[in-house]
Amino acid sequence: MRFTNKTILILGGTAGIGEAAARLFRAEGGKVALTGRSQAALDALAGEGFTALKADMGDIAATRDAIAKAAAALGGRIDVLFVNAGVGGFGTLADMTEEFWDQVHGVNLKGACFAMQSALPHLNDGGAIVITGSIGSMIAVPGNGVYAAAKAGLRAAARVIGAELLPRKIRVNMVSPGPTDTEIFKRDASPEEIAAFREMLSGVVPIGRMGTSEEVARAALFLASDEASFINGIDLFVDGGSIELK
Ligand SMILES: NC(=O)c1ccc[n+]([C@@H]2O[C@H](COP(=O)([O-])OP(=O)(O)OC[C@H]3O[C@@H](n4cnc5c(N)ncnc54)[C@H](OP(=O)(O)O)[C@@H]3O)[C@@H](O)[C@H]2O)c1
Repeated sequence: MRFTNKTILILGGTAGIGEAAARLFRAEGGKVALTGRSQAALDALAGEGFTALKADMGDIAATRDAIAKAAAALGGRIDVLFVNAGVGGFGTLADMTEEFWDQVHGVNLKGACFAMQSALPHLNDGGAIVITGSIGSMIAVPGNGVYAAAKAGLRAAARVIGAELLPRKIRVNMVSPGPTDTEIFKRDASPEEIAAFREMLSGVVPIGRMGTSEEVARAALFLASDEASFINGIDLFVDGGSIELK
């Protein structure tokens, strides 16, 4: 029960890693608010008692508004901010477009940074920020350059933000998943494509399978908890050894 009497806001908490984290934080006593874009998912989670607010993290004003509303619903303060929302997509240097670049960076980098700025007045001193990065920022997967650049930029920004928030004793850490079995790689894909992608991804992970949302979420909870009280500015890879064992 590491989060008893703690308040948690998850940006991108309606599916995958964020939803798993929402359930785990609550199971350990936390009071959880979350955001996302899918109204159906938000409604379902609101029905389970979560404070669920619609906001696209690429829309800075809407996210600022949602963060303020979440803070109010959580009693006026946020102990843990989990900046998890992210969008994927592939495009090589030859075929990338400005629209694709702006869409990915608008959410994964710009949106994430302005969301953290918006949360500053609501964050409790002594609290924690956890940001979802990706091993994609570290490895050279052809076609992944736009996404990789956004996540690498986010890691660089996270380290600076961590230094800036030292006077408030707010720790800032990143959790970087490897291939994780969530909807992110299944959208717009046929069942055959999903099966082939899963097999391919499992083959590149030394442990021999994709991770689960819960496995990544558990690392986020650790970084957000007092167990990680002397850990600041790290990027924790939860990737079945994808980087470490290569
Ligand atoms: N799965 C992997 O293999 C993998 C690997 C490395 C890194 N990651 C990162 O892990 C994070 C979570 O991804 P996931 O795999 O759990 O994917 P997911 O199942 O697609 O979940 C993504 C979550 O983020 C939300 N979201 C996406 N775009 C948003 C936006 N513009 N504004 C607000 N919320 C938004 C989604 O909610 P709505 O759909 O309701 O908007 C959903 O709750 C992302 O940052 C992703 O880049 C994933």
